Amino acid sequence: MSGGVYGGDEVGALVFDVGSYSFRAGYAGEDSPKAELPTHIGVMDEVDTAMETDDRSLQSDKKYFLDTNAIKVPRKGMEINTFLKDGMIDNWDVFEKVLDHTYSRHVKSESQFHPVMMSESAWNSKAKREKVTEIMFEKYNVPAFFLCKNAVLSAFANGRSTGLVLDSGATHTTAVPVYDGYVIQQAIVKSPLAGDFVTMECRKLMEEHKIDVVPPYMIKSKEVVNFMDPPKWTKKDIPEVTKSFHNYMVKDVLQDFAASVLQVIDQPYDQIQAETMPSVHYEFPNGYNRDFGSERFKTCEGLFDPAIMKDLPSGNTMLSVGHVVTTSVGMCDIDIRPSLYNSVIVVGGNSLMQGFTDRLNRDLSAKTPPSMRLKIISATGSAERRFSSWIGGSILASLGSFQQMWISKQEYDEGGRGCVERKCP
Ligand SMILES: Nc1ncnc2c1ncn2[C@@H]1O[C@H](COP(=O)(O)OP(=O)(O)OP(=O)(O)O)[C@@H](O)[C@H]1O
Ligand SMILES: [Mg+2]
Repeated sequence: MSGGVYGGDEVGALVFDVGSYSFRAGYAGEDSPKAELPTHIGVMDEVDTAMETDDRSLQSDKKYFLDTNAIKVPRKGMEINTFLKDGMIDNWDVFEKVLDHTYSRHVKSESQFHPVMMSESAWNSKAKREKVTEIMFEKYNVPAFFLCKNAVLSAFANGRSTGLVLDSGATHTTAVPVYDGYVIQQAIVKSPLAGDFVTMECRKLMEEHKIDVVPPYMIKSKEVVNFMDPPKWTKKDIPEVTKSFHNYMVKDVLQDFAASVLQVIDQPYDQIQAETMPSVHYEFPNGYNRDFGSERFKTCEGLFDPAIMKDLPSGNTMLSVGHVVTTSVGMCDIDIRPSLYNSVIVVGGNSLMQGFTDRLNRDLSAKTPPSMRLKIISATGSAERRFSSWIGGSILASLGSFQQMWISKQEYDEGGRGCVERKCP
């Protein structure tokens, strides 16, 4: 029996886009997700019901704290955890906590009323695909479900069904060739040089300059200090926090620093005169402020030129962003290479780094065979870039012609969890 037909916009399908930095959720047909919550959550072991009533749920003897506000409150013994590992769902309990929270606080409706379109990484395993399908039908009782590779959704969001999707997110930069809406699995190329790498480089930069990065949760008050003067601030009275919490909060400051200060230079770093580079002023949460000059460029140069990093482990084979693209295209059939170079679709939060696409364009132009025309497609808006796979899901799930593609509840009941392999390529 074929699947039941659900009119996407009549029933209000939901789109869930899973990333290692954030989880995006909202209604199909809308322009942007209704909610974006961190993929990280706070977990505390002991149960203390006398306090903390907000944003938590109790299960066995663990307390969970979700969403941007709750996770940033210092609490004694709260560890920061994530449900993703290598872009795939790994901690299913935590994943369910995030879904529960999304339905109750953001969607504010019951799961049995809404078909769900969910994104997954292009290398998701068969076992994990079946497991998430089972959870959605058995636990959340959804009327219909569909799993779609995030690269395919990003291509759709950019109006393409064929192209090379270059996604630079938090944990990795990947090149995924998409042809006629299908991923060419054997040509997926990944590199760990992405947002988290940049944050790590920022941390090193701060150590070099002896800048103590104090996250806002520790600060009670601060005074305005002169340029480069030692900061004057007082410490808040806070409970003893875990290392994972402190690191998460420091990372938050460094991510802001990276987005505000860093820039990818449009030529190899070693060919420029560092002193002539324009500097940018930055004030840290504790009031310390200074200018950053050539460091602005050097700190993220490793993305495009890993050899510049002096502390690379020997024999390291991390691929630069440009190499990720050329390697992936090189692994595809020669006949389709021109159409991939002709649509290099750039997405992901880390690609918003100033100068990122210009440098990519420059590096790729130098490597693209002369017979092929290079075209880089990148949305200018930051929401379009960061939410591209969510937006693609929103478009796909509301297309009339897609409605027959859903795995219906009935199909699941008859065929079991294996039906995801058949219905969702
Ligand atoms: N304006 C910006 N400039 C530079 N970096 C940014 C900017 N905005 C977000 N980022 C970085 O982008 C990363 C998050 O990107 P994105 O939301 O695409 O990741 P994700 O899809 O959740 O994770 P992944 O793709 O790794 O699973 C973070 O490292 C964040 O610091
Ligand atoms: Mg991503």
